[in-house]
Amino acid sequence: MSKAATIAAGVVAALTLLLLADWAVLSIRVPKDDKAVKALQEKTKQDASFAPELAALQKRVTDYRIARTLRDTWAGYGLLVASAVFLVLAKRNLPRHIPGAPQKATRGDSGGHLHRSRGPAIAAVEALDLAFVEEAVTRIGRGREMAIPLLQAIQSHYRYLPDEALRRLCELTEITPAQIAGTSSFYGQFRRSPVGEHIVKVCHGTACHVAGARQITDELRRYLEISEGQDTDALRQFTIEEVACLGCCSLAPVLMVDDHTAGRLTPNTAPGALKAFEKEPA
Ligand code: FES
Repeated sequence: MSKAATIAAGVVAALTLLLLADWAVLSIRVPKDDKAVKALQEKTKQDASFAPELAALQKRVTDYRIARTLRDTWAGYGLLVASAVFLVLAKRNLPRHIPGAPQKATRGDSGGHLHRSRGPAIAAVEALDLAFVEEAVTRIGRGREMAIPLLQAIQSHYRYLPDEALRRLCELTEITPAQIAGTSSFYGQFRRSPVGEHIVKVCHGTACHVAGARQITDELRRYLEISEGQDTDALRQFTIEEVACLGCCSLAPVLMVDDHTAGRLTPNTAPGALKAFEKEPA
């Protein structure tokens, strides 16, 4: 919430409290004053010398009520204005999109390049079902010698080696975290980070490199909003890999999405090669 909205909310709260306090005080004091005036009126009927005292009391009561009425009227106006200001400011501060809601691809405003408008990365993170790990351990075994087949099974199921699955594996077997770290880093087949639904292989062979493979890769990473050190987009739709010659140098620069080839790309046209594989937000 902005500072101005916070101040408006504070004014609303203060004025509301003031009006409530006035109402509480008046609800006690008015009957009391009325009773005192009435009693003095009775005394004045019997003894006229009480008349000045009665007049003074009536003036004091009237002045008090006028002052309170004036103050409460201005407080009421102030409350209305402060409430309106607060509502306007609060509405302005509301997020434009529902958190987690996927958004459609849009054309951005930086140099006419395509942007994929995406929900928070957390939208793509699902709770991991670890039942498979338990089933794999029961089926394959618990010994240290079963580390590779178990890791292969886990990777085959989850498409990478999730930390939660590996922790569960260590709990259920004789395999240690150190053994897993050594095995998974030694064999190139194992992935420790999530993999996208589609593998985008961008050729960085000589012909493609000369024709601008680096710019193609950079543009795809920007389009998919893949952060530094990562190779997969937050929605886990695409994983980008830089590979050696794909064997179609005459089409350089080239990329492959799964087994579909696209060539003679430019940074502007490269994102279009992914379009056919993009899932429309539900
Ligand atoms: S260098 Fe890219 S296809 Fe050969």
